[in-house]
Amino acid sequence: MRSKIVAGNWKMNKNLAETEALLTELAAKLPDTEAEVMVAPTYVNLSGAIRTLEGSAIQVIAQNMHFADSGAYTGEISADMLIHIRIDTVILGHSERRAYFGEDDEILAKKVGTALEKNMRVMFCFGEELEDRKSGNHFSVVEAQLKNALFDLPSSAWGNIILAYEPVWAIGTGETASPEQAQEMHAFIRKTIAEAYDTAIANQVSVLYGGSVKPSNAEEIFSKPDVDGGLIGGASLVADDFVAIIKAI
Ligand code: PGA
Repeated sequence: MRSKIVAGNWKMNKNLAETEALLTELAAKLPDTEAEVMVAPTYVNLSGAIRTLEGSAIQVIAQNMHFADSGAYTGEISADMLIHIRIDTVILGHSERRAYFGEDDEILAKKVGTALEKNMRVMFCFGEELEDRKSGNHFSVVEAQLKNALFDLPSSAWGNIILAYEPVWAIGTGETASPEQAQEMHAFIRKTIAEAYDTAIANQVSVLYGGSVKPSNAEEIFSKPDVDGGLIGGASLVADDFVAIIKAI
């Protein structure tokens, strides 16, 4: 049985005091759930978040990391630094990293490789732009993103991979892929993995949907058979909304 996961990507939001306040509220309101619940505050607040969540089932994960072990990379953070503060999961390939920070498939393949080498779990994000969907290229774009960053990995690596399909046109726009569009793409993702590896790996990997998930649409999206949860941006910044989304799984 693959894991169900609801993760909050806080992006560049919340200072330390706000982080502690939101997490305290979240921990108090966390419903009983079969899902793994994760939050990704900004780097500077990761240690504080871990302290605040001591004893809670909510996991703290990172939004990004560098592929190098250490060295002259001003402003960057390594896998070991994350591991040292007990972070074992990192989001890689978010569309904002790709669009604003020049992260391409080649860089992402290196980051994924480093994280896995260090025994971290990778939440790998990918998804097509609006033009890709309009021109009917969304399947080939998604296939290429997966292939270029992940398909050189050995089968054994896939136990530490979580996928998050996030159509770029649905992120922060209020526009959600319909549950049918999400299901169609998630099924395609599994088929692509089954062809590159085998059906056991394709059926075991958790595939999350991300892009304007909110309390009003979460239940329908999560009800689709190939959708194993969500990566939530805006709605994860409001405790009651995030809790409602967790309850929807
Ligand atoms: P959103 O962001 O829920 O605000 O659309 C999702 C994401 O970027 O992970």
